[in-house]
Amino acid sequence: MIENASEAVYRVIKDRRSIRSFIDKEIPDSLVQQILEAGWMAPSAGNRQPVEFIVVKDPAIKQRLSTQKFVIEAPIVIIVVVNLERTTSRYGERGETMYIYHDSGSAIQNILLMCKALNLGSCWIGAFNDEKISRFLELPENVLPMAIIPIGYPNQNPDPPRKIPLEKISHNEKYEEQKIKEYLMSLVD
Ligand SMILES: Cc1cc2nc3c(=O)[nH]c(=O)nc-3n(C[C@H](O)[C@H](O)[C@H](O)COP(=O)(O)O)c2cc1C
Repeated sequence: MIENASEAVYRVIKDRRSIRSFIDKEIPDSLVQQILEAGWMAPSAGNRQPVEFIVVKDPAIKQRLSTQKFVIEAPIVIIVVVNLERTTSRYGERGETMYIYHDSGSAIQNILLMCKALNLGSCWIGAFNDEKISRFLELPENVLPMAIIPIGYPNQNPDPPRKIPLEKISHNEKYEEQKIKEYLMSLVD
């Protein structure tokens, strides 16, 4: 185990930000490989591994994925997809309504953290047109797009977002509804 691994992991988690501006610099293939491996190593329900990755570098395809400028600006865009059958064949409805989101979320977060560890910026994008993406990327019917992740060298250093204090959202023994209600009410006063 790397010395101070817990400190390194903590820093990567803490300092990761959504990056929405990139400099014009290619990413070496060896780094792209490490990023894909990070996604591939993520846990999945029953180890069914329904998550797959599409790497897009072609500017013409990037343009069709999103109208947001920073997606086109990014040297690579990874589209995270799930092969529905691989999980529903074992888990049925639970696979479709729950596990595909868990499985793809864990792979996406691994990718974002690996990018940060490699001094690359990335952004988890969930706002896209599913139908268009499926058509442009020629996804079969049982393969669903879950996220678009533009990746590149950052051209910005955003401040951390405002967060609800941890003590308001961490509960002891049972859900303490009153404390989060009171906190949210205090924001509107
Ligand atoms: C499920 C999900 C969907 C998101 N979709 C978008 C998006 O469509 N466009 C975008 O710019 N950011 C998107 N984000 C990024 C969030 O806005 C961002 O994570 C949040 O503001 C917190 O900032 P941070 O990532 O720097 O901690 C998404 C994040 C998640 C987890």
